Amino acid sequence: MYSKIALASVLFQAARGQQVGTNTPETHPALTWETCTAPGSCTSNNGKVVLDSNWRWVHSAAAGSYTNCYTGNTWDATLCPDDVTCAANCALDGADYTGTYGVTATGNSLKLNFVTGTNVGSRNYLMKDDSNYEILYMLNQEFTFDVDVSNLGCGLNGALYLVSMAADGGLSATNKAGAAYGTGYCDSQCPRDLKFIGGKANVEGWTPESNSANSGTGNNGACCAEMDIWEANSISAAYTPHAGPASLTICDGDACGGTYSSNRYAGDTDPDGCDFNSYRQGDTTFYGPGMTVDTTKVFTVVTQFLTDDGTADGNLNEIKRFYVQDGTVIPNSESTIPGITGNSVNTDYCQNQPTVFNDTPSFENKGGFASMTAGLKAGMVLVLSLWDDYADSMLWLDSDDPATGDPTVPGIARGTCATTSGVPSDVESSQASAYVTYSNIKVGPINSTFAAPATKRSVLGAAAGRPQRRAVL
Ligand SMILES: *[C@@H]1O[C@H](CO)[C@@H](O)[C@H](O)[C@H]1NC(C)=O
Repeated sequence: MYSKIALASVLFQAARGQQVGTNTPETHPALTWETCTAPGSCTSNNGKVVLDSNWRWVHSAAAGSYTNCYTGNTWDATLCPDDVTCAANCALDGADYTGTYGVTATGNSLKLNFVTGTNVGSRNYLMKDDSNYEILYMLNQEFTFDVDVSNLGCGLNGALYLVSMAADGGLSATNKAGAAYGTGYCDSQCPRDLKFIGGKANVEGWTPESNSANSGTGNNGACCAEMDIWEANSISAAYTPHAGPASLTICDGDACGGTYSSNRYAGDTDPDGCDFNSYRQGDTTFYGPGMTVDTTKVFTVVTQFLTDDGTADGNLNEIKRFYVQDGTVIPNSESTIPGITGNSVNTDYCQNQPTVFNDTPSFENKGGFASMTAGLKAGMVLVLSLWDDYADSMLWLDSDDPATGDPTVPGIARGTCATTSGVPSDVESSQASAYVTYSNIKVGPINSTFAAPATKRSVLGAAAGRPQRRAVL
């Protein structure tokens, strides 16, 4: 995922010490979320959110000095001659969440604006307290939230997902900022656009991005498992497990693999994942404006992490999806692609999909469900983001990918967006006022976080391949 910085205005105050800037006090927005035991039986947690470090102003840590360590997409050569010196010389500053970054939490709701001044998008993490991320243990549990994607057009991605970050953000002698300043990110693309990884800067080998004024790519990447519960706009949506290490693993150069490296499959992490996108799986009228899941209105997304023995000690073997809208539970759409059946992500689905679509079996090759089980068992951090795509214009989510592919060939078409859509410079002007809202987050045992229909009246047992209808409560 790409990132942008916003340059905060400079006030003259004393910095308090290395690596934590105090120009803007860091005040984490409060966000409540619920833990449930049964439908209607939930208790509220007083969570907080924190903005990722990559969006923050990075300046000299020397007392009274606010020289930028990083400006636009380049590092200051004096403060940052190498990774170790740069980490010692530079401080991450606090964030004006709403004013600079367009991030606003109210009660149980988090709204992320797309463009705010020079800032584009944001990546935020759920915190347990002011210095630790919340670690979620999702095996044999379900994750539920409400989302408003009505303002997200082609090329934008409102993403809610889990990654295997450390609870303290990698706090150490050389990273005094830690989770309080949103450090320690990793994901299944082994991102190399991160300014700091593992207590060091990523200035060595840094190459400014040719098409982005704010980002670049360094020698190091930050790999870990990623569970994309939700990547979506108003046109298309996908949920996708990505295999990878169950904790931050630093990689080197093009051996990282992923979006930022010359060979996508070179690393130990799975950049492609095993995705379920209803449109790509053949149901082109399920998700979108006015469709079965009507994206012009708020709806609820339920994701269940089922294990082979029905306990949290078992192995993940199925990831199931329901939607709830206007009091109606809507099972996920069925795949209508010959050779790929069912309406959930399971072992058969993940083996059949790359075969039928002629894709690299990246998820299987990098460890598949066993790897995702290890990640979920170790506990993962919740990410809430909004981004646009400098690598592929989000065509992999909402258009034809590859753009030159024949959309009648199964697997190519993922949504109705034009193959020319999603270019960041276009969407950052035409959709500047776009936003996503995540709210009402709930975690609990299977079927505890939403009102599942009584078995007799449900359509959950409908034969595979039959048109799915809404179950009226
Ligand atoms: C959850 O609810 C669905 C629909 O009523 C039902 O088919 C399933 O067996 C339930 N699962 C559990 C673990 O209760």
